[in-house]
Amino acid sequence: MSFEELMKMAKRRGFFWPSFETYGGLAGFYDYGPLGRALKKKIEDLWRSCFIREGAIEIETPTINPEEVFHASGHLREFKDLMVRCSACGESLKADQIEDATCPVCGGSLEKEGEKFNLMFKTQIGAREGGREGYMRPETAQGIFINFPNLYRINREKLPMTVIQLGKGYRNEISPRQGMIRLREFTMAEAEIFLDPEDEDYHEIEEKMELKLLRRGGDAVEVKLKSSPEMAGGMMMAHHLQLAQKFLTELGIPESVIRFREHEEEELAHYASCCWDCEVYTEKYGWVEVAGIADRGTYDLEAHIKESGVDFTALRKFGEVRKVKRRAVLANTELIARDFQAVNGIKKALGEMDADLLKSVKDRGGKVKIEVDGKGFEIGPRYFDVLDIEDEASTERFVPKVVEPSYGIDRILLMVLAHSYSKEGDRWVLKLPPKIAPVTLAIFPLIKRDGLDTEGKRVYEEMSAKLSSLGLICKYDESGSIGKRYARADEVGTPYCVTIDHQTLEDGTVTVRDRDSTTQTRVKEENLCDRILERSW
Ligand code: GLY
Repeated sequence: MSFEELMKMAKRRGFFWPSFETYGGLAGFYDYGPLGRALKKKIEDLWRSCFIREGAIEIETPTINPEEVFHASGHLREFKDLMVRCSACGESLKADQIEDATCPVCGGSLEKEGEKFNLMFKTQIGAREGGREGYMRPETAQGIFINFPNLYRINREKLPMTVIQLGKGYRNEISPRQGMIRLREFTMAEAEIFLDPEDEDYHEIEEKMELKLLRRGGDAVEVKLKSSPEMAGGMMMAHHLQLAQKFLTELGIPESVIRFREHEEEELAHYASCCWDCEVYTEKYGWVEVAGIADRGTYDLEAHIKESGVDFTALRKFGEVRKVKRRAVLANTELIARDFQAVNGIKKALGEMDADLLKSVKDRGGKVKIEVDGKGFEIGPRYFDVLDIEDEASTERFVPKVVEPSYGIDRILLMVLAHSYSKEGDRWVLKLPPKIAPVTLAIFPLIKRDGLDTEGKRVYEEMSAKLSSLGLICKYDESGSIGKRYARADEVGTPYCVTIDHQTLEDGTVTVRDRDSTTQTRVKEENLCDRILERSW
């Protein structure tokens, strides 16, 4: 099967096609038709259930965010690609995709100097006067991070805490030329797992499971993770590599085309200390990243603490009283009383300020601004000391670290189709696992007369009512020959075709044809629903 054939089928049958063709097309955008939308929903639901089974909680946050979010997260500064222009036709090109010094569009020469281009779509929130600058989110993750205090409370202050979000992400790719592989608007499925960094042993690893790992600068090797303790990123990362492989194989992608590649130092995102890409192989595109499992450490929560001043810490309970090192602020009461009137107010305010911040102010001989009862004071370094002390405590606050598995649903859908579409003899068939097939059941009358069509419609209505309440789609088709109808159903991956024939009218049985083997069995109509649900739900 060539990719071109797959793309033609996807459009012809209603999976997906390039958007805005009416107006000349626009690279990086795709529409999903009825079958594509149904398949995508099933992939999303399966992803969701993989994480909900692990105890994840799901949220939904806005796709437009005010500038402050991405100032804090570092995306405004760092989320950039190097762009070069063609001096002849003016085309903008992403620098790392250029194979030689000429423009792939016109063959002209490229400008020597490139420039950094921020990939976020900018927008204006509200009227220009008094409005705020905003951005379309490049990842759903920030919506989770900025809600950490709410989510931690809702989760009864328990860690590890896994929070998931599925939704659109936006990246203004410079010159996307790879169809569905590089979209400017795409669906992300992200999980942020908040952990206590002192508690490393969160997960059992499945000892028997083999993964293909490509370590930095190394060759790909098949490993069982338990025997690979040096796995970069720790046990939670290892667990999520396994989960990614299980999810993809449940979607029908063969294990043989899945591998995990550790990022080289220079390709790490600004927030990650380690990242494993989960990649799927296709002949057309080679190895394609479909998910990334990153160790984001305390980067994001610390960034939002700094930007917003909000408390993004969690509570660690020791279960006993321990000696802990902490930084304490000591107000110089005598001096404050001598020089200011609001002694108690100033002492209280100093005590509530971040001790690390006061330490750095003191070290550089700066002043802090304090407001007491609406009156401002500038407090210089001689009015307080910052001491590192040993104290006794049974709890302490800390900034959780985060492991992030992030999946690209559109690419996964494409890989699922690529690895399930094939030609067997002269039959095109999409061998999707029944539980993600967009249409679960097709119902055909053998011929359109002798009452078989009326009976077929009745069976369809009954089955459709039962299956649709479970989110499964059932179709009735009486057009063309029965052979053509089977062929259409095979090509869109319908796992079961039920045919109503003359015997149905006599004994209430129907034939059920299995897509993969093409064998047919007779089933009593009353048992049909159970038979379908056995493998599809
Ligand atoms: N949140 C992962 C990413 O932006 O790629």
